[in-house]
Amino acid sequence: MTYISQLHDFTDKRAGYEQLAAQLHGLLAGEADAIANAANTAALIFDALPEVSWAGFYFLRGGELVVGPFQGKPACVRIALGRGVCGTAAARRETLIVPDVNDFPGHIACDAVSRSEVVVPLIAADRVVGVLDLDSARRARFDEVDARGLERLAELYVQASRLELLR
Ligand code: SME
Repeated sequence: MTYISQLHDFTDKRAGYEQLAAQLHGLLAGEADAIANAANTAALIFDALPEVSWAGFYFLRGGELVVGPFQGKPACVRIALGRGVCGTAAARRETLIVPDVNDFPGHIACDAVSRSEVVVPLIAADRVVGVLDLDSARRARFDEVDARGLERLAELYVQASRLELLR
């Protein structure tokens, strides 16, 4: 692991995500433990990104999503596939940006302050193994630049980690 804490600058979002991807790459280098890597990934994202109230992982275990390492307030533990924003993103295998959670039918409110959300599926060997989930108290906090940036971070996490041991 090579990690030196740096100031995170997201004035230019794309550049911010590029810098964050380089930092995550260093942070995960030489470590394959899926829990340890998820914990550090969630911590880095939560530390780096402005206006994020929750950042973390759900892993697909026994046919449902079960909460993994995260930063933020305690969260719902189990989410069925197809339910909520997380279960929908996992079932559709696509990133979901929800500008206002009040407009998303079936949104699961873990934290009353959460107003917008982005969920990126984790795909390993062509299978969904979980999701990376971020919440914000600000409406429309996440856009396509966030989605692409977070997909890159999720990909780095999946590549670095031995996910088969989680099941
Ligand atoms: N809001 C999510 C549930 C997880 S929490 O946001 C941490 C959902 O609707 O799936």
